[in-house]
Amino acid sequence: MKLIEGNKIAAEIKAEIAEQVKELAAKGQKVPHLSAVLVGHDGGSETYVAFKIKDCESVGFKSSLHRYEDDVTEEELLAKVAELNNNPDVDGFIVQLPLPKHISEQKVIEAIDPRKDVDGFHPENVGRMVIGLPSFVSATPYGIVELLKRYKIETSGKNCVVVGRSNIVGRPMSVLMSQKEMNTTVTVAHSRTKNLAEVCASADILIAAIGSPEFLKANMVKEGAVVIDVGTTRVPSSETKSGFRLKGDVKFDEVSSKCSYITPVPGGVGPMTRVSLLKNTLLAATNKIYS
Ligand code: GUN
Repeated sequence: MKLIEGNKIAAEIKAEIAEQVKELAAKGQKVPHLSAVLVGHDGGSETYVAFKIKDCESVGFKSSLHRYEDDVTEEELLAKVAELNNNPDVDGFIVQLPLPKHISEQKVIEAIDPRKDVDGFHPENVGRMVIGLPSFVSATPYGIVELLKRYKIETSGKNCVVVGRSNIVGRPMSVLMSQKEMNTTVTVAHSRTKNLAEVCASADILIAAIGSPEFLKANMVKEGAVVIDVGTTRVPSSETKSGFRLKGDVKFDEVSSKCSYITPVPGGVGPMTRVSLLKNTLLAATNKIYS
């Protein structure tokens, strides 16, 4: 079994991005600027956004954070989105999800200028991705494709099972894996899938994006499979300073000995998700998607 070290690959990509930022600055061009909009004080969202800001600093990007309390109105939030759309200094921005119940996430996502939609959530980017046009691709699937490529994992003709069909991970992942670049035969499994264990065990490449800690056991994995664990559920822990630790969707101790490759949690997919947002921001700043 080989461990897929997302941490290591993400550090390499960050160094590549930092180099490109230096080149932009040396040519007298502005450095990429990522903005984040954060509503409320959800612990997970606070942490994710803090990481995004820190990541920007580490590669030389400019960043800015716009915070609102939980009682912000949809109109106020849409006004901020319009302002960021029209601010030429901002290359890309994200509105951290989830949003409070009284705000339509879809309305907010659709208000974002697709050229600044570095999350790749706008239907225009999703549609462009599906038909193979240049687009901003959601960070987690984008990062997983990059991991498979950098580890030179053969994908062509393989059976890929994606467990989960969320708009952010499972759905775009399944589309990317079916495209000519990856050439896998894809099955999308979900909560209504019958014989889930059998379906998973048919996978040469198994991508778990379920959100249920240690859901995938050894009997659900084929000998020699490549296993990609997207799960990052926070579970209480007395052993960490934060009081919780991250658990993946795969029962690692059981499954790892059966795999050819596996991503750990933490240190596998997570760092690649973070670095993919930086890549998208660089693409936005250099007009590589919509030219
Ligand atoms: N909430 C959980 N993941 C994400 C993400 O990738 N982007 C945004 N904007 N919100 C999220």
